[in-house]
Amino acid sequence: MTLKSMGPRLTAIGSGKGGTGKTFLTLSLAQTFADLGERVLLCDADLGLSNTAVQLGLAHGGDLPALLSGTLGLLKDAVVRVETPPHAGFDLLAAPAGVGSLVDADTATAENLAALLKRAIAYDRVLIDLGAGVGAAVMTLAAHADDTLVLATPDPASLTDAYVFVKLMLKRTGGRPPAVVVNMASGAHDAKRTADALMRSAHVFLNASPAYLGFVPNDPRVVEAIRHQVMLCTLYPQSPAVAAIAALASALGVQLGRPQVAQSLR
Ligand SMILES: Nc1ncnc2c1ncn2[C@@H]1O[C@H](COP(=O)(O)OP(=O)(O)OP(=O)(O)O)[C@@H](O)[C@H]1O
Ligand SMILES: [Mg+2]
Repeated sequence: MTLKSMGPRLTAIGSGKGGTGKTFLTLSLAQTFADLGERVLLCDADLGLSNTAVQLGLAHGGDLPALLSGTLGLLKDAVVRVETPPHAGFDLLAAPAGVGSLVDADTATAENLAALLKRAIAYDRVLIDLGAGVGAAVMTLAAHADDTLVLATPDPASLTDAYVFVKLMLKRTGGRPPAVVVNMASGAHDAKRTADALMRSAHVFLNASPAYLGFVPNDPRVVEAIRHQVMLCTLYPQSPAVAAIAALASALGVQLGRPQVAQSLR
């Protein structure tokens, strides 16, 4: 008998459309899971236009391109630690801001990244900011994740893009839909109406039943926090958006000290 680590849980956030709040949500979830005691890695897989480090006000966010090219051999040498006391720290793996060297990343690069993240046994969870679009690299990573979230907003264009994301995810996974999260909703009713519209289309046209995970309200404090390059939970810990993100994290489940499974030697 030998012990084999199960590896981290991969949680990916995509939307198709740009500007839906993927980076904000991924960062906020990373901080939330870290505060709950998980060992967290945030991978900024917005391979062309990485901006996680910018939202955090960091000078650099690690060196994902060097890891993918093999210039850096170890994941731990390519990440930077994000420490925002009194919050728990987490690691960030991003491309240096303004470099854009991974803008033409293909399926092979995404497969390589997914394999690398699945082997990242120093972490309980890897959160992946998929970036905008539904290109091959985005959908490859989306399909490899254990939990894939499709982030929609009440904006009709976001709904059509989210629908395409669901459709392509079903195709790549042989029928596993992403879970729906609504951002920038005016309230629970608005969010449910938005999610229902997407889930109805998925049901009618794709014969799929995506789950509804929850929503984050439209909150001007989010805009303010991003402008100040400070995390919302630091600037406004009591804000409704922070509470909503805690509820989303709880719906995803905490992965503390993931168990190791015994495997027979072949
Ligand atoms: N819950 C919210 N309430 C109010 N504004 C929000 C909320 N979430 C996001 N925003 C606004 O949306 C903008 C875009 O957010 P963010 O950069 O996280 O989106 P994105 O999906 O990562 O964008 P991109 O596709 O360009 O990577 C933010 O700068 C902020 O102004
Ligand atoms: Mg982004």
